[in-house]
Amino acid sequence: MPEFIPVLKKEEIDQMVTAVAKRISADYQACELILIGILKGAFVFLSDLMRKISVPVKVDFVGASSYGSNTFSSEKIHLTKKLEIDIKGKDVLVIEDIVDTGLTLAYIIDYLKSFGPKSLRVCALIDKHERRKSSIKLDYVGHTLQEGFCVGYGLDYGGDYRNLPGIYHLKL
Ligand code: IMP
Ligand code: MG
Repeated sequence: MPEFIPVLKKEEIDQMVTAVAKRISADYQACELILIGILKGAFVFLSDLMRKISVPVKVDFVGASSYGSNTFSSEKIHLTKKLEIDIKGKDVLVIEDIVDTGLTLAYIIDYLKSFGPKSLRVCALIDKHERRKSSIKLDYVGHTLQEGFCVGYGLDYGGDYRNLPGIYHLKL
């Protein structure tokens, strides 16, 4: 049986999301902010975050896949859903669930830059350091971890456990 070791409780996630939303709201006064969530994992975080942001936002998603059913990245990233709205000249904030090697984010940043946004920043729920391979800058981070494979609050293992309200280390 897999073991679930608690990392963040529902209440702790809520406080963390509130704090991140407050910083974003302060930084994007009088801007046309577009939130772009990376599917699938970021949709839970994005839906909570956007409702705590006090400036107007538009929302879109791009899809990226790299893991399959493993707990490590295949490092071959492919786009599973294209951008739909026009971000040329707009302030864009990419919303990611967890940054591990950073290769997914680097790929998505390159893709989004090709549309000519005015600004492009990144907000990640979890910044996981151990396997970083790309030197991307994370502008807003909810929580930092050194290592481990997490599930819950949008994060999955082979498609499971996204609906857990808290975040757990999964021990297989
Ligand atoms: P990266 O390209 O190695 O940074 O991986 C990023 C993507 O892999 C994230 O968007 C997640 O979907 C997934 N991922 C990385 N670490 C974990 C984890 O601990 N649990 C669940 N998914 C993860
Ligand atoms: Mg993801």
